[in-house]
Amino acid sequence: MVEPVRKAVFPVAGLGTRFLPATKVLPKEMLAVVDKPLIQYAVEEAREAGIEDFIFVTGRGKSLIEDHFDHAVELEHVLKERGKDEALRSVLDCMPGRVFYTRQRQPLGLGHAVGCARGFVDGGPFAVLLPDDLILAEPGCLKQMMEVYRETGGNLVAVEDVPRAHTMRYGILDVVEDDGRLVRARGLVEKPAPEDAPSTLSIIGRYILGPEIFPHLDRHELGAGNEIQLTDAMARTIGEVPFHGLRFSGKRFDCGGKLGYLEANIAFALTRDELAGDVRAMLKEYA
Ligand code: UTP
Repeated sequence: MVEPVRKAVFPVAGLGTRFLPATKVLPKEMLAVVDKPLIQYAVEEAREAGIEDFIFVTGRGKSLIEDHFDHAVELEHVLKERGKDEALRSVLDCMPGRVFYTRQRQPLGLGHAVGCARGFVDGGPFAVLLPDDLILAEPGCLKQMMEVYRETGGNLVAVEDVPRAHTMRYGILDVVEDDGRLVRARGLVEKPAPEDAPSTLSIIGRYILGPEIFPHLDRHELGAGNEIQLTDAMARTIGEVPFHGLRFSGKRFDCGGKLGYLEANIAFALTRDELAGDVRAMLKEYA
């Protein structure tokens, strides 16, 4: 029997250099798409997938994230007094279930950030969600993964096909079996040059991992970009546990970069009844 996944890790300690100066003091994860911070979309996706414990790996200058997931006593009081029920609900709905915070003292890479969460998740499977990968999907990407995970166990990542010329931006799977939706991998390579890439299937920021990852993360080996890479540790667990990739259905936006972020704002605005018509009319002016 595969153990259910009830814990999720949100690594939010990165520097967000691609979005400077906006992210000089504002955490990248607090950038809003339409009217919600990126981190809140990730939390809602996790909640929909059955996550009960929410673990944030934060760093210096990220305390706004903690504030966002706490009561805003004065604001709530004023909204209540003024009868602004919908606004009040939107503020109260922000808060997930059990929340834990830990600090990554230096941004040494995603693998290192996930390793910092060990004390909260060790012993069972857990999800990792990178909030700057924003996914428009119904049901949410993590929920789709949970359904498949019941069959696969082991390590499962969300994947999408990318143009071969872009492989050096992503972790790329070395595939042994592919049924069109689910793939089984025998390896993965972080940011390979197009001519060296074993496939064009890239890992995006959704993972379900088992505790076998931690001894490999603990070695603190530097990988691509001189950072401790999560993908390197995952590659080392192949052979110990099954490793699968799921072509999720939906669209992913790289909100760590400007173009993806702008596109996400338009795509998410078009899903909102109160905005869609006006946004479409506005876009015609720029066509
Ligand atoms: P990115 O690769 O997007 O790095 O991290 P970054 O520092 O956030 O942004 P840029 O590239 O400088 O613009 C992917 C995810 O991993 C987290 C980030 O917060 C983001 O959610 N991360 C990255 C950490 O938590 N710690 C790290 O040391 C590195």
